[in-house]
Amino acid sequence: MSGKHVNGVIDLDVTGPKISRHLYGHFAEHLGRCIYGGFWVGEDSKIPHEGGIRRDVVEALRTLRIPNLRWPGGCFADEYHWRDGVGPRAARPRMVNSHWGDVVEDNSFGTHEFMALCDLLGAEPYVNGNVGSGTVREMSEWVEYLTREGDSPMASLRSSHGREKPWRVPFWGIGNEPWGCGGRMKADAYADLAHQYATYLRDHGENTLYRIAAGARDDDYSWTESLMKSIGCVTCPESPQSPYQAISFHYYTIPVPRDTVGSALEFSADDYYATMIQARRIDEIIRRHGDVMDIYDPQKSIGLVLDEWGTWHGVEPETNPGFLYQQNTMRDALVASVHFDAFHAHADRLVMANIAQTVNVLQAMVLTDPENNTLVLTPTYHVFAMNVGHHDALSLPVHITSRAADRNVNGVQLDTVSISASRKGENALVSLTNLDADDAVLVDLDLRGGAVVECHGRILTADSTRSHNTFESPEEVVVRDFDVASDASRYGTSVRLEIPAHSYVTVQVALA
Ligand code: AHR
Repeated sequence: MSGKHVNGVIDLDVTGPKISRHLYGHFAEHLGRCIYGGFWVGEDSKIPHEGGIRRDVVEALRTLRIPNLRWPGGCFADEYHWRDGVGPRAARPRMVNSHWGDVVEDNSFGTHEFMALCDLLGAEPYVNGNVGSGTVREMSEWVEYLTREGDSPMASLRSSHGREKPWRVPFWGIGNEPWGCGGRMKADAYADLAHQYATYLRDHGENTLYRIAAGARDDDYSWTESLMKSIGCVTCPESPQSPYQAISFHYYTIPVPRDTVGSALEFSADDYYATMIQARRIDEIIRRHGDVMDIYDPQKSIGLVLDEWGTWHGVEPETNPGFLYQQNTMRDALVASVHFDAFHAHADRLVMANIAQTVNVLQAMVLTDPENNTLVLTPTYHVFAMNVGHHDALSLPVHITSRAADRNVNGVQLDTVSISASRKGENALVSLTNLDADDAVLVDLDLRGGAVVECHGRILTADSTRSHNTFESPEEVVVRDFDVASDASRYGTSVRLEIPAHSYVTVQVALA
């Protein structure tokens, strides 16, 4: 053993805020092979499908219980015109996807196909509207098309396209990255537009929209401040209701400076730790956006949404640079696990998060073979699968009582152990990450305030931080059972785990 050691206490009977399942949300953009070749193969494909949607992808993703899916972008959302993607496919106009690879988009995957995909996945739709190059009327009519019952112009148009009943659409985004690809606006200008658009995003019938204003990049807290200021007093009885219910922000784990993105597979120990320093920043960034929001909304009625996050590496050799197709290693899995710990810690303000992106783009869950009926489950996929027990569970604060597990990375102290926990009924789930690339860590936890019947450990680890799954070798990184020593102690149950280097462990605790 290296001598690295962490002690902590978890009070099983002192629960914190609920960890919304929506913190495990996803994102699918018309970008590279996420939609086309990822989710959608079309009705004439020899690859098994349900109405054009790849069956193997849906089956793999159902394990993750995806709570919501954001679509159609990203940057693409601000050049997407929804009417081009409804009606008979053969008659749909084509367009150029100038953000992503400058390729021609034939609009064969549109609104009806997206709603069918959500149905198959069991996910709630999160539709992102076009502010950058669209109009208020266009967005308002899209909501009507999707959610209004009866004989309105858009409801009739929908019926003429074969869908009589309206859908339920809970989440709506008002543009994307308006400071960049979504229109290069200043925060105050966007805040005014967001108010205008939100006014015409109507609740039709039983459908109530949760409107999400497009927020900051990374640590641009002043953007969040502008949006919060523009709402006015959120809780004063005399002030108007907020036009939007949440504010988003995006944070990617990207090396600094941003133009130095390296390979997803070939990286040094220095690169690995630099990635982890960047990943660990998420905790502070969520907290500080939340601090700004607290000034205007101490009751936390406005939600914070991280609707794009994940690692951003260089693309795989010989792939289109505009398609953002990258491989995924143990390093990516650990970036995901420490993000989830931060999400759990801030579950009182952070209401939703969406990994970018689900299939074949950036930090994907699955990589598909475009020609064949095969796919690869990435290490990140396994972290999502291991964490399903945290969905809608109550967070349990983890008190670290002593810690000897730091690593000095070029003058910055990296805390290499991350722990979070939650409880749902008679089950608790503890997540533990050891970021150290070389050294194991011994973790002793006191579980108090509950009668522990059984502890079951699972581990995701591999030979190296660079280990990954491929079509030829799909099981280099898989989840295995893991020994957990547990004993009755003075206070309840003491649990001892020796967590190997670069590993992610969960302990499922059954309570009487
Ligand atoms: O996820 C890829 C892109 O990253 C999105 O389209 C955009 O919103 C962000 O910059």
